Amino acid sequence: MTSHAQGAGVNSPAVSPTVTFDFADLSARERYKLLIGAVVPRPIALVTTVDKAGIVNAAPFSFFNCLSADPAILALGVEFRQSGGQKDTGRNVRESLCFTVNIVSDALMRGMNICAVPFEPGVDELAEAGLTAMPGVKVACPWIGEAPAAFECRHHTTLGIGNSREIILGEVIYAHFRADVIDAARHHVDPAGLDAIGRMGGHGYARTRDHFDLPTMSVETWSADPDAANRRM
Ligand SMILES: Cc1cc2nc3c(=O)[nH]c(=O)nc-3n(C[C@H](O)[C@H](O)[C@H](O)COP(=O)(O)O)c2cc1C
Repeated sequence: MTSHAQGAGVNSPAVSPTVTFDFADLSARERYKLLIGAVVPRPIALVTTVDKAGIVNAAPFSFFNCLSADPAILALGVEFRQSGGQKDTGRNVRESLCFTVNIVSDALMRGMNICAVPFEPGVDELAEAGLTAMPGVKVACPWIGEAPAAFECRHHTTLGIGNSREIILGEVIYAHFRADVIDAARHHVDPAGLDAIGRMGGHGYARTRDHFDLPTMSVETWSADPDAANRRM
């Protein structure tokens, strides 16, 4: 760990003192803590899968994001268990080649947390959480009736990135939205209706109710901004 302090540049906000880390010197746990504390808020996928016997599994993942819209790709970072074996989600995706991502609203928070309990394989977490399994349309995995939005995914690629986790990419082939969160004609999702929560560091979570719009400026708009002239002084 190294500390640095730097003075403010002309016409720019002060650059604060920093603490730096060479990731080569850190343990996996230390890297994890720095990343999950700073890359926030992370969206949460409550992922539903089925095992070979058709038993439903559900678990939350915040190493999760939308990485592409064409093709429509969602990514999950799924750790292995301490024992080295796959989590049920990873094993089920490998065997069934599909999964469904359910978006976690504030109302789904408690159910999501019950689904994170490390149950033995074969336990239906949706039943434990009192959530409703709705039949998938294009995939064998159910979607969660209480979720504000759900994306049925066909397995695309699994990236083996080390001996502790894999990254699973799924292509979205079907979507469900609760009727009050979507303007279907405009394909517009209402963020207030979705009421998604995000994962912070440690056991922290954040709501998404402090919402504002900030359109990206054109070069012309920025050039006409008084700040643009100040930057060039
Ligand atoms: C909000 C939240 C986010 C989580 N994110 C991840 C994650 O990104 N990757 C992971 O491997 N485990 C993550 N976990 C832990 C898994 O949900 C947990 O290990 C679960 O029991 C796995 O279930 P499974 O064996 O049924 O797949 C997260 C837990 C919570 C509560």
